[in-house]
Amino acid sequence: MANLLQTKYWPHIDGLRAFAVMAVLFFHFKTPGFSDGYLGVDIFFVISGFLVSRLILKDIEEFEKVRFGRFFARRIRRLFPTLAAVCVVTAIIAYGLLDNERLTAFGKSVGAAIISLSNINFWSESGYFDTGSDTKPLLHTWSLSVEEQFYLFWPAAKMFTDARALKADEVKAMITRFADTAEAAKSAGFDGVQIHAAHGYLVAQFLSPLSNLREDEWGGSLENRARFLLEIVRAVRERTGKKFGLAVKLNSADFQRGGFDVDDAKQVVKWLNKESVDFVELSGGSYESAAMAGAAEEDNPSSTMLREIYFIEFAKEIEKIAKMPLMVTGGITKRETAEMAMESGAVEIVGIARAYGYNPYIARDWAAGQNTDVRLPEVKSKNKTFKVLATMGMTKANLYTMGEGGMPKAKRSPLIAVIRGQMKQAKLTKQYRKWLDQA
Ligand SMILES: Cc1cc2nc3c(=O)[nH]c(=O)nc-3n(C[C@H](O)[C@H](O)[C@H](O)COP(=O)(O)O)c2cc1C
Repeated sequence: MANLLQTKYWPHIDGLRAFAVMAVLFFHFKTPGFSDGYLGVDIFFVISGFLVSRLILKDIEEFEKVRFGRFFARRIRRLFPTLAAVCVVTAIIAYGLLDNERLTAFGKSVGAAIISLSNINFWSESGYFDTGSDTKPLLHTWSLSVEEQFYLFWPAAKMFTDARALKADEVKAMITRFADTAEAAKSAGFDGVQIHAAHGYLVAQFLSPLSNLREDEWGGSLENRARFLLEIVRAVRERTGKKFGLAVKLNSADFQRGGFDVDDAKQVVKWLNKESVDFVELSGGSYESAAMAGAAEEDNPSSTMLREIYFIEFAKEIEKIAKMPLMVTGGITKRETAEMAMESGAVEIVGIARAYGYNPYIARDWAAGQNTDVRLPEVKSKNKTFKVLATMGMTKANLYTMGEGGMPKAKRSPLIAVIRGQMKQAKLTKQYRKWLDQA
């Protein structure tokens, strides 16, 4: 790896580039023998992917993080002058050759190329303008935009370090840290804490047979996989005393084939019955299968009630064995639905998350007998991951607005919410890392 990360000039890469460019040029000039010359574009992609990945990996190796600002500044410095020159020269030629309508479309394509959205611009063009590639002089910036968009997301993917198994002493230390945190919360004045054993976070990773591949006392059988949660519950209770609130948020199921399912959840609740737990909140899913945000229910043609209260049917199952009160969270935005959940007899508490992002007064209104409903904005996309990110992003944006004293907005642009959310997350992560370094 160290050898690949060296920064010296490699002349053979320039040679390969020249070969790729010539192949594409010969293809365009219909030179015999070069009918597949467009493959030069792919060669270019591979070279570029190799060189840029080196830069990113070098940053990770040296600084243990990706320096996004430097990365994109470097790309802009490298690409923008050439792109600007191409746009200017093409504009002069286009002015003399294209009719008014095509000239307007060309103007749009210049704007799209500059902000690296050419592919989306050309892809969205249809009908009259969807004629030949020769009337779209900047069509070749399509692949450049795809490349830029790729680099926008690729470094973000490398923000997370690779997963590794905790060592046995690290597992013990982690349990102590849960107790430390609960104690800190108590001394800060909180009345209780909740152990998050859902949504694919650390405790849920121990519970799931898909992520927990350990062969020691913390992995293998469900009893072993649940040990981490049970030890945390005991440690927190021991440290905070009997009067401090202690809840567990548990997945009723992970919604992944071969993952933690409702029978596992029932067994874990049976074990929790023997511990001092004030209530169990039932949720489901993870970032890979976002049932907590309704992703599983979209495909479910069942009754309205089932669709609205995502995990109520699971709660009914688990209620049969639970000795502590249960809470269900997910999908509740109407007073009527909250009441339906309570009347089902399965739960004693309902949880509400996103609806508060649109109306912070719902609990007050419902308690006063008003039927204030919240309509969560619909995100129209076939991509479930994007839908989840957009839903979270829009809610978060409203929470930030309210935090600054403003009023929540009923509608926001999902794309902008996702981009802003990711940027804010990156900034907060940076702040947190800095704080960790100083601590
Ligand atoms: C902006 C946002 C942040 C969230 N953060 C957490 C979290 O830190 N822990 C957690 O258990 N659930 C979190 N969730 C999920 C919610 O607790 C809840 O399970 C989910 O939104 C479904 O409930 P709802 O339909 O009432 O929104 C978050 C949800 C949103 C929208």
